[in-house]
Amino acid sequence: MTVRARRSELATPASNDWMFTTAIESGADLVFLDLEDATLPSEREAARGKVITALCELDWGTTVRAIRMNGIDTHWAYGDVIEVVTGAREALDIIIVPKVRSARDVWWVDILLTQLEEQLGLTKRIGLEVLIEETEGLQNVDEIARASDRLEAIIFGAGDFSASQGARVDTNFDPLIDFPGDFWGYARARVVVAARAAGVDAIDAPFPKYQDPQAYGIACDRAGAMGYAGKWAIHPSQVEIANTAFSPTPEEIAHARKVVETYRAAETSGRGASALDGMLVDAAHLRHADNITRRADLLGL
Ligand code: GLV
Ligand code: MG
Repeated sequence: MTVRARRSELATPASNDWMFTTAIESGADLVFLDLEDATLPSEREAARGKVITALCELDWGTTVRAIRMNGIDTHWAYGDVIEVVTGAREALDIIIVPKVRSARDVWWVDILLTQLEEQLGLTKRIGLEVLIEETEGLQNVDEIARASDRLEAIIFGAGDFSASQGARVDTNFDPLIDFPGDFWGYARARVVVAARAAGVDAIDAPFPKYQDPQAYGIACDRAGAMGYAGKWAIHPSQVEIANTAFSPTPEEIAHARKVVETYRAAETSGRGASALDGMLVDAAHLRHADNITRRADLLGL
């Protein structure tokens, strides 16, 4: 499986080709052209052509090139995959599959891609990310997380998930609702645990109030604290905030390297537990430190 930075995954409506360049130049780790909910149903088929042109002709630099296809319970799904992959060939890195309910939804896309890659003679495998945004998908998330070796990330989709659950809110912070803690705490925890257990990234939900950067930053920090590797952005102005929140700071990296040194020195002198600045350093702390240094290496920090 390809390991990638996905601190920010920026959504862009596939029908709005005038927005593509700004999205690609936003600094997002991944940009996806959205053939699903951000594109009107009447424009979804025509938008595939715009997507192919953008994937093939724009300069994406190091930005991960992705699309969100339509759900496999719609009549657009097979056309999205066949048309875009045939047109874009190796210029597509990731397909995001929305509203996944069970492992067989992932197999369906995986099998179609395998046939296409063989038929077209593609030299590169296309990766998958799935959205958990149906209550049924959350119930089956462990099996979904292991459904395909193409799977690179699981995204929590709070908007649709709230509707699926029958919840009366569809934003990440609603002061009108006096709910203790995180309204989506259970779902967020289930998604990140399933993702980490399967060795893939967990990505947090879109944050609809794009004119509230402070609240978005808090939401990023909370997701990062839980183990999420990144968050969706629905506006280019959110990208920088997510990139900062999901990058270890220089202080964190320096501390992590000191923890490793401290642990190794203790190990050499025959001890498993030691201390740094009044804090215990043992094998568990070494794992925390490794997580930080691995992320720093991935991000070139
Ligand atoms: C994303 O697709 C969501 O529904 O939140
Ligand atoms: Mg959705």
